[in-house]
Amino acid sequence: MSQGIFPVQWHEESVRLIDQTRLPAEYSVVDIHCVEDMATAITTMIVRGAPAIGVAAAFGMYLGARDFSGSDLQEFFAHLDQVATRLRQTRPTAVNLFWAIDKMSTAAQACSGSVGEIQAHLLQTAQKICADDIRTCQQIGAHGLTALPQTPEKLRILTHCNAGALATAGYGTALGVIRSAWAAGRLERVYADETRPRWQGAKLTTWECVQEGIPVTLLADTMAAHCMQQGMIDAVVVGADRIAANGDTANKIGTYSVALAAQAHRIPFFIAAPASTVDLNLPEGTLIPIEQRDPQEVYLPDTHRICPEGVEFYNPAFDVTPAQFIKGIMTEFGVFPPAQLEAAIRSHLSSGNQ
Ligand code: MRU
Repeated sequence: MSQGIFPVQWHEESVRLIDQTRLPAEYSVVDIHCVEDMATAITTMIVRGAPAIGVAAAFGMYLGARDFSGSDLQEFFAHLDQVATRLRQTRPTAVNLFWAIDKMSTAAQACSGSVGEIQAHLLQTAQKICADDIRTCQQIGAHGLTALPQTPEKLRILTHCNAGALATAGYGTALGVIRSAWAAGRLERVYADETRPRWQGAKLTTWECVQEGIPVTLLADTMAAHCMQQGMIDAVVVGADRIAANGDTANKIGTYSVALAAQAHRIPFFIAAPASTVDLNLPEGTLIPIEQRDPQEVYLPDTHRICPEGVEFYNPAFDVTPAQFIKGIMTEFGVFPPAQLEAAIRSHLSSGNQ
């Protein structure tokens, strides 16, 4: 078993990212020293996955704050606002990004010290967001395990995209639940959708499973419904980029098709995500901003163009699965049907669980 996969880490005065654009062919790391490089790493998906983006943005806020060399507090906060604005421009859908930036801004405002003291406090806050995320994922894994079907004893679980350690500070959300099931002897096998156009399932989820010795079968995206029809799948667990207050969930493009197929075959479909992915300001999923990415991701999956010149493209990075297709949302506070999610999250947050 691996010692753990930690895609965002504070390392010798910079932020060390696993370069997820190079896996699985090459395991390499990139050291990020300034906010502009962090913004680029998020946009180009060197770091990706909602919670990991949040942690990276938190460190990005610190790197930006560190660049300020004056002592005037008003100027410092104006500078910090610019840093936040730059990071907010990177990716629009994963709400963890905005959650982490707001948390860092609030921490800076709440610190009544010199510029140097606020800078030091921001580094501690980013490190805490990072450490908390790993614990949160482990709690999601433990709660999620209890909600999985009781039969068969060893489950065959399908997942889409990568909601693993690579997509968080470590351990993962959907893949965290799968890890917990594996550790508890409740997993037969993972079925990983390849997840066109960026191949997060093929390149990242299978890589993580191989690191952990978890049995995995890679599926082309077109195969999920067929596998369900053949009785090969007992449950579906996927991650989320933003969950509206009513439980509608944005996740990687293709998730909605998987949910529809699961519903047709009466296979339970679960979302696994931290409370920081729940956007209580959005009443329903139609309001979630969907990122449109470079069409080149569709027509040039590798080095060869896969269609003739002149063809038009559409490349939404996420889709929204309506709450009606979701059996339960696995969080660090427990597993809730979509209709109970908002009340449960509000009650936990108001009792001081952050
Ligand atoms: O475009 P990506 O790779 O950042 O999208 C990732 C996903 O859609 C994940 O499923 C989601 O962020 C949850 S990660 C724990």
